[in-house]
Amino acid sequence: PKETCWESSDLYKFQGFWYPGFLLSGVLGVQSQFEARSDDVILASFPKAGTTWLKALCSCILQDPDQDHDDQLSLKNPHELVRTLEYDLFKDDVTLPDIDLSTMPSPRLFHTHMAYSHLPDSVLKNPDCKIVYITRNPKDVIVSNWHFFNSDSWRTSPEPYPIEKVIDEFCKGHQFYGPFFDHVLEFWFESLKMPEKILFLKYEEMKRDPKGELKKLAAFLGRPFSNDEEVEKVLWRSSFDRLKNLEVNKNGVVFDLEVSNKSFFRRGVVGDWKNYFTDEMKKKLDEISCMKLEGSGLDFEI
Ligand code: A3P
Repeated sequence: PKETCWESSDLYKFQGFWYPGFLLSGVLGVQSQFEARSDDVILASFPKAGTTWLKALCSCILQDPDQDHDDQLSLKNPHELVRTLEYDLFKDDVTLPDIDLSTMPSPRLFHTHMAYSHLPDSVLKNPDCKIVYITRNPKDVIVSNWHFFNSDSWRTSPEPYPIEKVIDEFCKGHQFYGPFFDHVLEFWFESLKMPEKILFLKYEEMKRDPKGELKKLAAFLGRPFSNDEEVEKVLWRSSFDRLKNLEVNKNGVVFDLEVSNKSFFRRGVVGDWKNYFTDEMKKKLDEISCMKLEGSGLDFEI
């Protein structure tokens, strides 16, 4: 089946999830070609749930300790440090040429927005290949996405697209990688079954208790911190205020997508939806969240 949404004039439903053509081609490429190693780490997220932050944190944690003096985040945008499988690296039956995956040193760090059930067997069936999933309350995901697609890189019309329509499409699941709730729940249930393979993080908890969540993340990646100073250092290096103001993130674009690096740093707060949602919009989102998450043990609090 085919649908449209404001992000794209054509969306295709593939095994339960919506993709525009170029992403579907990437998904098929990943499925047919990506061979995970046992010590690979796959970061996973729904778009606008905190991908950039997770990429920054994990690349800091896994950075070669001998190179520690040289903070790679000051030299490269997090999306350049951790590539997204289905749009940076694979496409149908070809591997995009600018990076040789076989010579990348272990542990390799990748990212994907793909649904859990769409990941290749080499990731799913290898208990040692770890996944870190980050999610965020759906109202902030909507607002962040709305701003992102209204930014210079993507905007196709002079007027901003009405947020009411974005909410409507979100509720129907008609957006890149949608439906949101199905995406989140697949990873959530699998993380309950395999906590040693999948770490499930929430943006809001990371904001509330950054040290505690970061320690959990580092321990999961097999790089526990030995002292609080190290924790502080990684948090500072990956912090929104620092990254937003680095030259490398103010300029340049993210590879094939040609999205400006600065589009990934907007406000970085919890609850920005309150500045945009009417009571009616809030009610609609709360109702759908309640219905979709009922009995799952997952909630978003805000
Ligand atoms: P807002 O638009 O609400 O500000 P993604 O990385 O998945 O595309 O998500 C982008 C959202 O994460 C944006 O949210 C962005 O500002 C926020 N973000 C980016 N870097 C961050 C960081 N280091 N810490 C916290 N939030 C960050």
